[in-house]
Amino acid sequence: MAEPRDDLALAHRRLTAAYQQTLRYAEDVRRLYVGVQRAICQSLLGLANALEAKDAYTRGHSERVGAWSRRTAALLGLPSPEAELVGQAGLLHDIGKIGVPEAVLRKRAGLEPDEWALMRQHPVTGAQIVAPFEFFAAGALVIRHHHERCDGSGYPDGLAGDAIPLGARIVAVADVYDALTSDRPYRKALGPGAALEHLAAAAGRALDGDAVAAFVEALREPRNGTAHVGARAALGAASRPALH
Ligand SMILES: [Fe+2]
Repeated sequence: MAEPRDDLALAHRRLTAAYQQTLRYAEDVRRLYVGVQRAICQSLLGLANALEAKDAYTRGHSERVGAWSRRTAALLGLPSPEAELVGQAGLLHDIGKIGVPEAVLRKRAGLEPDEWALMRQHPVTGAQIVAPFEFFAAGALVIRHHHERCDGSGYPDGLAGDAIPLGARIVAVADVYDALTSDRPYRKALGPGAALEHLAAAAGRALDGDAVAAFVEALREPRNGTAHVGARAALGAASRPALH
């Protein structure tokens, strides 16, 4: 007949084995969950690629804005999963332009008021496109508000200051910088120095000052290839022409 102490040891071993099995299951579930999220993000990336096929300007723009937004969020101290989400939202920020007619997207001359109205609809359309992904609810908000301005002059809701989600304030900075340094149908690209002067002028007004400072820091990192820009000097610049 087994001693009570042996029974106890056996029970302990079984309990430990069951616990470890549970941990393995939990790890499997976590891995599956991450895999599903990645698959969804890849489908969204497919959508972003579809947009790039339609609008030549966005080629490379989405990825740059995504990468800069992720890095800027990390430099602002956001935990890794949140910085990742801001990066994904940056990648998809213009996805709603899929709903804008090509004739409007590619127009070289100034847009008519009704065309502007269509164009200004894209943040709302974009948020609606990603709305079915519950895990991406915060990302949908970033997409919806990436054209808000800290002084309340943006769209679609005219939010101001901290009422604008931080991720949207971050994406706005990266978006503006990339727009300024890219050729557009209606103007040539600015050089990095001139673009940074625009950011400096807008910091604390249209754009979030902390987000601009962190973005400039991100740009200075050698891997972003713009360490020569002298970003801090640009940030210290006095009042400059208003941002377009
Ligand atoms: Fe946009």
